[in-house]
Amino acid sequence: MTATPAPRLGERVTAPFGRRRCEVTRNLASGGYRIFSVLDPAGPEPAAGQFYMLATASGWGGDGGRPYLARAFSVADAAREGSGVRLDFLVQAVGPGTSRLATLEAGEELWIHGPLGRPFSAPGDLAEGAAGAILVGGGIGVAPLAIWRRQLLAAGVPGRVLLGFRDRANSGGLDLFDCSEIRLASEDGHTGHRGYVTDLLAVLLEGDDTSTAAVYACGPPAMLEAVRGMCAERGVACELAMEAPMACGFGACFGCAIPVRSGGYMRLCVDGPVVRGDEVETALVAGSGH
Ligand SMILES: Cc1cc2nc3c(=O)[nH]c(=O)nc-3n(C[C@H](O)[C@H](O)[C@H](O)COP(=O)(O)OP(=O)(O)OC[C@H]3O[C@@H](n4cnc5c(N)ncnc54)[C@H](O)[C@@H]3O)c2cc1C
Ligand code: FES
Repeated sequence: MTATPAPRLGERVTAPFGRRRCEVTRNLASGGYRIFSVLDPAGPEPAAGQFYMLATASGWGGDGGRPYLARAFSVADAAREGSGVRLDFLVQAVGPGTSRLATLEAGEELWIHGPLGRPFSAPGDLAEGAAGAILVGGGIGVAPLAIWRRQLLAAGVPGRVLLGFRDRANSGGLDLFDCSEIRLASEDGHTGHRGYVTDLLAVLLEGDDTSTAAVYACGPPAMLEAVRGMCAERGVACELAMEAPMACGFGACFGCAIPVRSGGYMRLCVDGPVVRGDEVETALVAGSGH
C-alpha cells in the first residue's frame, strides 16, 4: 500500500471505489456501548465527521431476512498501523444490524465502504476569528467527537469537550477520549452534572467571548436542535453531525434527503452528515435518532 499523507484539518477525504473486506482486530465493552476496530489495508486516513457503510462478511441477513443493507457508522478514531489504517467504531445495539456488529469477534471480517461524506470544518474556516472549539456530544453521538478532538489537538487547536448521557445503560465511549478535560452530564445523575449537556454549553457560552469559538455537536435530534438554537441566538458558528436513514451512503438512493433553509433538499450522505447550523431550519429530522 502507498502511504497517503494525513488529511489537512477539515479536508474531505475521498473513498476508494467499491467496498473492501477488512479484518476485525478487537471488540471491547465501553460502558453500555462497544468499540470495535478493523485494519483497513487499502484505505486513506478519514477526516473527523466522515462515516463508513458497514456490513459483516458473515451472519448478515439470513433466515429472518434482515439486515441486508450496510449500516452507516461515524468513524470514532483512526491511526496508521503497520500495513494499513486502524479504524475504530463505537456501536450501540438498537436493532439487527447494530446488534450483529456489536458481537463481532477478532478475526472476523467486515465489508467497509468509506470514508464518506462531508467532515467537520476547522474553526477558522467556519467563522472568521474562531480559534477554539467546543465539542458537544450526546449518547452514541460522542463517536465522531473523539477523532475530532484528537485531530484538533494535533493541529494545536484548543478544544473543550462536553458529553451527556441519558443513563448508565445509554452511555459509553469515554475510553476514546483523553478524559482529563471532559465535562460530563447525565439525566439520571449517575455521572457529572444532573441534567442535559446543553446546560453545560449554556454556562460556557455565557462565560465566553463567543466570537472566538466554534461549536461542533453530534447526538440525538432534540439535543442538536437545542445546540443549533442556542448558537443561532448568540451568533456562534456551529456544525451539527446529523443522521438520516441511509440506504446507500453515496448519493444514489435519495433516502437521506433533508430540507435545507434555502429551499429544496440536500442528501445528507454527500452534502453532510456534517452541516452548518445555519444551513437547516431545524435539526429535528423525521426517521433519525434513537
Ligand atoms: C452518518 C451516520 C453515522 C452513524 N454513526 C453511528 C455510530 O457511530 N454508532 C452507532 O451505533 N450508530 C450510528 N448510526 C446509526 C446507525 O446507522 C443505526 O442505528 C443503524 O443503521 C440501525 O440499524 P439496525 O439494523 O441495528 O436497526 P434498525 O432495525 O434499522 O432500526 C432500529 C432503530 O434505530 C432507528 N434507526 C435506524 N436506522 C437509523 C439511522 N440511520 N439513524 C438513526 N436512527 C436509525 C430506527 O428508527 C429504530 O428505532 C449512524 C447513522 C448515520 C446516518
Ligand atoms: S443514503 Fe442514498 S442518497 Fe444518501
